[in-house]
This record gives sequence, structure tokens and C-alpha cells, in this order.
Amino acid sequence: MDIFRSLKLFLILLLLNYVKFDLVAAHDSSSGVQPLSKIAIHKAVFVLNDSASIKASPLLLGTNWNVQLGAYEPNDVMQGKDSEWVDVEIEQPKPLEDDWIGIFSPANFNSSTCPQEDQRQQPPFICSAPIKYKFANDSNSNYTKTGKAYHKLRLINQRADFSFALFSGGLSNPQVVAVSNAVRFENPKAPVYPRLSQGKSWNEMTVTWTSGYNIDEAYPFVEWGLKGSPQTRSPAGTLTFDRKSMCAVKVETRHTNFVSQSAGAPARTVGWRDPGFIHTAFLKDLWPNLMYTYKLGHMLSNGSCIWSKNYSFKASPYPGQDSLQSVVIFGDMGKAERDGSNGYNNYQPGSLNTTDQLIKDMDNIDIVFHIGDICYANGYISQWDQFTSQIEPIASTVPYMLASGNHERDVPGTGSFYDTNDSGGECGVLAQTMFYVPADNRAKYWYSTDYGMFHFCIVDSEHDWREGSEQYKFIEQCLASADRQKQPWLIFAAHRVLGYSSGAWYGQQGTFEEPMGRESLQKLWQKYKVDIAFFGHVHNYERTCPIYQNQCVNDETLHYSGTVNGTIHVVVGGGGRSLSYFAREDTLWSLKKDFDYGFVKLTAFNHSSLLFEYKRSSDGNVYDSFTISRDYRDVLACVHDGCEPTTSAI
Ligand SMILES: *[C@@H]1O[C@H](CO)[C@@H](O)[C@H](O)[C@H]1NC(C)=O
Ligand SMILES: *[C@@H]1O[C@H](CO)[C@@H](O)[C@H](O)[C@H]1NC(C)=O
Ligand SMILES: *[C@@H]1O[C@H](CO)[C@@H](O)[C@H](O)[C@H]1NC(C)=O
Ligand SMILES: *[C@@H]1O[C@H](CO)[C@@H](O)[C@H](O)[C@H]1NC(C)=O
Ligand SMILES: *[C@@H]1O[C@H](CO)[C@@H](O)[C@H](O)[C@H]1NC(C)=O
Ligand SMILES: *[C@@H]1O[C@H](CO)[C@@H](O)[C@H](O)[C@H]1NC(C)=O
Ligand SMILES: *[C@@H]1O[C@H](CO)[C@@H](O)[C@H](O)[C@H]1NC(C)=O
Ligand SMILES: *[C@@H]1O[C@H](CO)[C@@H](O)[C@H](O)[C@H]1NC(C)=O
Ligand SMILES: *[C@@H]1O[C@H](CO)[C@@H](O)[C@H](O)[C@H]1NC(C)=O
Ligand SMILES: *[C@@H]1O[C@H](CO)[C@@H](O)[C@H](O)[C@H]1NC(C)=O
Ligand SMILES: [Fe+2]
Repeated sequence: MDIFRSLKLFLILLLLNYVKFDLVAAHDSSSGVQPLSKIAIHKAVFVLNDSASIKASPLLLGTNWNVQLGAYEPNDVMQGKDSEWVDVEIEQPKPLEDDWIGIFSPANFNSSTCPQEDQRQQPPFICSAPIKYKFANDSNSNYTKTGKAYHKLRLINQRADFSFALFSGGLSNPQVVAVSNAVRFENPKAPVYPRLSQGKSWNEMTVTWTSGYNIDEAYPFVEWGLKGSPQTRSPAGTLTFDRKSMCAVKVETRHTNFVSQSAGAPARTVGWRDPGFIHTAFLKDLWPNLMYTYKLGHMLSNGSCIWSKNYSFKASPYPGQDSLQSVVIFGDMGKAERDGSNGYNNYQPGSLNTTDQLIKDMDNIDIVFHIGDICYANGYISQWDQFTSQIEPIASTVPYMLASGNHERDVPGTGSFYDTNDSGGECGVLAQTMFYVPADNRAKYWYSTDYGMFHFCIVDSEHDWREGSEQYKFIEQCLASADRQKQPWLIFAAHRVLGYSSGAWYGQQGTFEEPMGRESLQKLWQKYKVDIAFFGHVHNYERTCPIYQNQCVNDETLHYSGTVNGTIHVVVGGGGRSLSYFAREDTLWSLKKDFDYGFVKLTAFNHSSLLFEYKRSSDGNVYDSFTISRDYRDVLACVHDGCEPTTSAI
């Protein structure tokens, strides 16, 4: 046994030191690539033709113009919209099936001086990818005959103006045939898309938003207070970053030892877009469970203010407080376009359904955890604005808590635990800046947070989590810090499957987990009697029995009660990204599998009763559920490896 162990250790050390430590990502077994990456925009050429045209209207978006009234609404009734449908008309003398419309922002995308990343690179005519695109024939089946098409496209306020370009040559040999007039929002710099997060203490809510105002132009703040009471103002901090913060991939070739900085694509190259300014305000000393109203403001130097819409939220309960508490958890949701842009949402087909189900149930949800693979921008920075806009109805109302996934963080040679290019050069910067998380260091995306009777330990699977690592210490400390009499419901969550999954990829590896995941962490889950461990990354739903060391430790399937003999593992990665297949093998510990889009809702009725529900995103109905009923002494009860040794010494 000892010999075997030291051999294993030796092998691990060997791996660490000699072979590049490449744990092999769970290669997305599912189909789909970031739709913008299908466009060979660096090959685009201008072949403008006067007999082709593209026109967009209205010119000014997001105004208070009321069509029915035929007049402007007063400012306090409708404070300007941050999304609008635009009419786009095209005429093309030589229509072809693969003609497409690219939506560009800023409108003047024809910059002939693109920043050069590499001397050998030919200067491209178009340096930035469109923010989205649509085929000309989409819902215009006569286009190839008539050369005429009419589109309704939805724009969101993204701090700059927009133009539409008609391309022939398909996505792989794009030729610009016509460019439209520019359209713009009334105030492109307006504060938009607030997202709430729990602060570092239970009675603090953080509000993060995006605007076009740097601190020297206008001072950011939140005006807020108890609903119906006088409002007060809290200042906000401002962050931004530039192209150089995006990670270049060092390409090392063994033979020549040549190191090129040219990669880092697309975040440093065609995917780059100015992120604007990201503000965070800290609303402190909140009264548990009371409703607050808030709005975002920017004070100009002459004292006048630019306002956002009005929003509201319910303050978080005191840790241990007995009240009805509902938590939603899912991973891998991504974003999609409501106007059918970007190839009919085939990259994250379930994303809008999940978003819309949550919005429908907003009155019965207190907090949301999106455990990694957030928007799959993969280095196309414009997608982050679109994602924050999509989730605004949720994230502006309840804390929207994130975990980091491979699509946020991974770039080889940048300290990510896995050597993949999955973040397209973002190397975590977008996830760490666009959203606040109550981590000590947002570049290390692990944190704990309390919500009433729940205690959450959110783990960053893209940084080392093995025994002896900095993060392992955090995990133990986080689990140990739950006073289970007050916070009986102890939840662990990470993006990659560190526990159990019958996903096809993990099945092929023969591990049914991220290698070394449960081997590293199961003694902590067992010792601290974690109720449920959640994972994403595999795009489906699966629930295990309460399990320890690969063995089910409880025969129940629907109503758990009594001692906590093992942790229930749940894969809930079906938030939106195209689904992942299950392995053919039947895993003994798997109680329920669903090959569909969905999310989990936990409802704590009190300290002794928890309801778990898995709902499908298509209809919001429950497709799996169980309950846990137990008393405090059941958590204290010693089970296998679940208690410290005792002594009778005096
Ligand atoms: C514009 O397109 C028409 C119709 O295909 C073609 O006859 C004409 O030569 C083109 N003009 C230019 C300048 O390319
Ligand atoms: C927004 O809130 C302000 C108070 O802060 C109030 O005067 C105004 O009527 C509200 N506007 C809307 C559209 O609810
Ligand atoms: C429109 O064009 C796309 C891309 O060439 C093609 O896949 C699709 O079948 C066409 N749709 C219609 C309705 O013609
Ligand atoms: C875009 O730039 C190219 C190269 O500088 C130029 O030939 C072309 O006319 C420009 N097109 C527009 C629409 O400005
Ligand atoms: C396409 O053309 C046919 C025949 O001319 C017509 O009946 C139909 O309405 C047209 N469809 C669209 C979407 O314009
Ligand atoms: C303050 O400055 C802004 C922007 O320059 C202007 O639109 C606004 O009318 C000014 N307000 C006052 C009260 O002068
Ligand atoms: C990441 O991208 C670089 C540059 O394109 C490439 O050389 C490298 O092989 C990629 N790494 C992986 C693991 O795909
Ligand atoms: C849990 O473990 C304890 C102690 O090992 C055992 O007595 C009990 O029967 C187990 N509970 C269930 C539900 O299997
Ligand atoms: C806890 O809630 C459950 C479900 O609503 C209920 O049946 C039970 O009586 C409650 N227990 C206590 C101690 O309030
Ligand atoms: C989204 O929901 C609709 C309505 O239930 C359903 O018809 C559709 O299949 C769902 N889409 C996906 C990708 O599940
Ligand atoms: Fe993932």
C-alpha cells in the first residue's frame, strides 16, 4: 500500500516536472463553435457597388418617443430604453444564398490602421469582428430571387454607434458590398445592465454596471434606500482595461525555440472591443429581507446627473435566519440573440429559455449561482455586454453569483490549471472585471458566501484545487466555517466535475470526473458533511446517490433523513450550451439523468427541511426532485470518516 502510494506520488511528480501538466480538458463533446469565429474577418475586402444598398432606421435609438402619443414621454416616466429593434432593408443586384449582414460597432469599422501584433501579419482591411451577424436570406426566402430583404434586428446600448454591412462571399471570403448609415442610442454612454452580487458580509449588496463615463467626466454613484423611504447616495469605484490586458499565447516550438506573441486571438485581435467603464458600488448595513430601490447615476461636472432606470432588490437574510429561502443553480448558460442573429442560436440553444424561465419565476427566487462558462464570448468582447443585457431582469433583482469556467479563464502559459485556449485570450479579465464576486482576489475566483440557512463554498476549478494548494486551504476553511446548527445547508460548487459525472468525455477517460478531483476533495466533503456538490461543464443533468469513495452510502432516492452519510453530487451544466451526451456505461451511483436544458432550484423551508428540484428550461416543470429532512444532531452524528477521532484520556 505504502509502496503503491509513493509510486503514485512519484508518477505525479514526474508528470508535474517533465511532461507539461496537461490534464486534458473535458473537450466539449457537444457541437458548436463561437459563431463569430466562423467569420474570416481578417480576409475581408471592400467591393462596394452602387447598385447594392443597405439602410437602417430609425437613426436615433432609445429615445422617449411614444408612438401612440406622438410625443416624448417625460423623463421620469420612461428614462430611455437600452435596447431597440431596428429596421434594415437590403438590395443586392447579385443575391446569393450565403450573403450576410454584419452589425458593426463602432459604426466606422473600416480602419486601415489596425494595430499590428506581428510583423509578418498583413494589415487587414477590417480589424474588428462584427458584434453579430445574420444571413440575408433569413426569413426572407425570396431573397435569392428578388435581391431584396427586410430584417428586424435588435440592438442594445453598447457605448458606440452602429452600422450594418452587406457581405457577399459567405463567411469565409467576406466582401463588403454595401455599408449602411450609422444609427446610435440617444446617450451611448448611459449607465446600463446593473448586476447585483453579495458583498463580503451578509448585509452588503454590491451593484456593478457599465457606462461610457470615466471618473474624470462624470462621478458614478448609486442612489438607493428602503422602498418608499428617502434615498441616499453611495459612491462607486471604476475599472477598465485595455487590449494589452488580454493574454497573448506564447507559441513555443521545440526545435527552433522561437517564441511568437502573435496568438492571443481573438481577444487581442479581431475580438477586441473597448469595454467602457465598469463601476461597482457597495450598499452596506442592509436590513435583512427588506425591499430596497436603487438607480445608477453619473454626476457631471456642472452638477447635473445622468440616470439609469429604477430597480429594486430584497436584502439578504441574516446568516442562520429562519425564513423561506430559494436558490437557483446552473452552469454553462451562455447567451443568444432574440432576433435570431449568429446562426439561429445554435451555439447556446437553451440560453434564452433558461433566462426566460428564471425571469418568469423571479418572485420566487432569492439568489442565483451561474457556476462557470458564463457567456462563451471566447475573446469576442462585445458578447459580454450582450450577456449582461440578457440577464439584466435577473441580475438587477437578485444577487447573480458566478464561478469561473474554462471559457472565462483558460489560456496556456498564464497560470490556468488547464492548458487550453478556451477563453480565446481573455484569461479571466472579463469575468473578473465585468462582475463582482466576494473573493479576496478576483483573479483567484474562489469565495464563500452566506444566504440565511445556506453556506456556499464556490471553488475555481481553473486554479489548482489539490491538497497542498492555496485553494485547498480555502476550501477546508470555508467548509469548516459553517455553524451547522444555524446554517444546516452546506453547498459546494465548482465548474468542472470534481465529483461524479457519467458524461461521455469523462466516461471515455474511464474516470467519470476531472482526474484527481474527488480523490483530492472527498475527505473534505465527508468530514464537513457537505449536503450537495454542484458542477457544470458537462451540458446535461445528473444526480448521484449520497456517495463516498465511489460507494453509495444510502439507499434512499427521494426522501433523505437522518445522518449525513455522504454527499449528493449534481451536474447541472444544461444552462444553454448545446447538450453533452452521456457515456453508454451505467454508473452505479447515478440516480437520475436528463439530456435536456435545465437548472436546479433549492428551497429551504426551515432548518430541518430542504426541497431540491430540477426544472427543464423549455417548460419550467420539475423533472427530478428530492427532499432532505433532519435535525441538527443528524449532522453531528459520526459516520465513516466524518468525525475526528475521540479519546477517553482525561
Ligand atoms: C455592380 O453590380 C452590377 C450587377 O451585378 C454589375 O453589373 C456592375 O458591374 C457592378 N459594378 C461594379 C463597379 O462592380
Ligand atoms: C423612479 O424613482 C424615482 C425616485 O427615485 C421616482 O420619483 C420616479 O417616479 C421613478 N420612476 C419610475 C419610472 O418608476
Ligand atoms: C440561407 O443561407 C444559409 C447560408 O448559406 C443556408 O444555410 C440556408 O439554407 C439558407 N436559407 C434559406 C431559407 O434559403
Ligand atoms: C475602406 O478602406 C479601404 C482601404 O483603405 C478603401 O479602399 C475603402 O474605400 C474604404 N471603404 C469605406 C466604405 O470607407
Ligand atoms: C415570396 O414570393 C412568393 C411568390 O412571389 C410570395 O407569395 C411570398 O409571399 C413571398 N414571400 C416573402 C416572405 O416575401
Ligand atoms: C450640464 O452639462 C451637460 C453636458 O455638457 C448638459 O447636457 C447639461 O444641460 C448641463 N446642465 C446644466 C444644468 O447646465
Ligand atoms: C492554443 O493556441 C495556440 C496559438 O494558436 C496554439 O499554438 C496552441 O497549440 C493552442 N493550444 C491548445 C492546447 O490548443
Ligand atoms: C449512515 O451511516 C450510519 C453509520 O455508519 C449507519 O448506521 C446508517 O444506517 C447509515 N444511514 C443510511 C441511511 O444508510
Ligand atoms: C419545516 O418545513 C417543513 C416543510 O414546510 C414542515 O413540514 C415542517 O413542519 C417545518 N419544521 C419546523 C420545525 O418548522
Ligand atoms: C425552448 O422552449 C420552447 C417552448 O417550450 C421549446 O419549444 C423549445 O424546444 C425550447 N428550446 C430548446 C433548445 O430547448
Ligand atoms: Fe466548461
